[in-house]
Amino acid sequence: ETVAWDPEDAEKSGYDHYMLKEIHEQPSSLRQCLRGRIDELEGTVNLEELSDIDHDGPVQFVACGTSYHAAMFGAERLRAGCVSAQAFLASEYASDRVPVDGDTLVVGVTQSGETADTLRALREAARAGATTLAVTNTVASSAARECDHALYIRAGPEIGVAATKTFASQQLALAMLAFELGDDPTRAELEALRDVPGQVQTVLETTDAKAVAEAYVDADAYFSVGRGYHYPVALEGALKMKEITYRHAEGFAAGELKHGPLALVTENTPVFAIVTGDGETARKTIGNVKQIASRDAPIVVVTDGKSRVTRYADHVLEIPATDDLGGSVLANVQLQLVAYWIAHGLERSIDKPRHLAKSVTVE
Ligand code: G6P
Repeated sequence: ETVAWDPEDAEKSGYDHYMLKEIHEQPSSLRQCLRGRIDELEGTVNLEELSDIDHDGPVQFVACGTSYHAAMFGAERLRAGCVSAQAFLASEYASDRVPVDGDTLVVGVTQSGETADTLRALREAARAGATTLAVTNTVASSAARECDHALYIRAGPEIGVAATKTFASQQLALAMLAFELGDDPTRAELEALRDVPGQVQTVLETTDAKAVAEAYVDADAYFSVGRGYHYPVALEGALKMKEITYRHAEGFAAGELKHGPLALVTENTPVFAIVTGDGETARKTIGNVKQIASRDAPIVVVTDGKSRVTRYADHVLEIPATDDLGGSVLANVQLQLVAYWIAHGLERSIDKPRHLAKSVTVE
């Protein structure tokens, strides 16, 4: 007698899909990303690969898809550390229309290291005299080989077409890059970075994402909003939703909703709002949440519970308290899980969504 044995199932180690497995790998892949790179005694970040980078000019990021959202996040953190930084979609980047010179560092964020649009942008930047850096998951990829420098995110292989653990590792790697290139981190910032993997584990163990997904599996559309570090996460949450559920989903800067998209909001369009801390950023987003709530849209709040935003929420997806930077990594995990469970409910081809490829090598 033989037992049917599917090697793919074995590799999914009990999970229905690689995507869910990879979401659950995040505590360990994030630990790998941080390993040996934080010096708590000195209060510094040490990126060995970049020890010979001595850069204090402007930084430009080029990237596509999920990696572009990580790039937006990285640019935001660099600006917070007093470095002039901008994120560009690689397919829209042309170094003849953006000022690049010998002082410019152009950073290609690319999981595979093989995305044609990103490689082209990096090559163009190099021709214009910029220093180039690849932030990638793939050792010896084209981006890693062609750039002047490479920083590895160490997420391990990702099989699901929809990027999950690699996005989280890009976020942490880019936060460390910002600490390396810009102002030194405070002790609290270093501790927050170090605590992210354990806090992701807490999110995975306590999440209500499946119940939220069940409540909204038949919605007309899904919107997500955030500001600051949470804006790229709102975009990423919506991209995950589109990729694997085939439903209309869009992310917005929280403050922009009232300038147009609010017209789309109905009682059948749940809005996911990311709010952490209780400072100015939170206060403003809560104002926007009130505007949405008064239009009868269901509100799902992703929050650390430090503010009073939960009073406007139909559902709460809780995350451990940390700073906004760490909070955006944690909030993203909740949105990954909601997208996963909605796609699961719809019986979608989660690991291989229609029309999409893991790595796109044409422009
Ligand atoms: C493809 C994938 C996306 C990915 C994008 C950029 O479109 O489906 O998940 O974000 O390429 O890939 P990269 O390897 O450059 O990060």
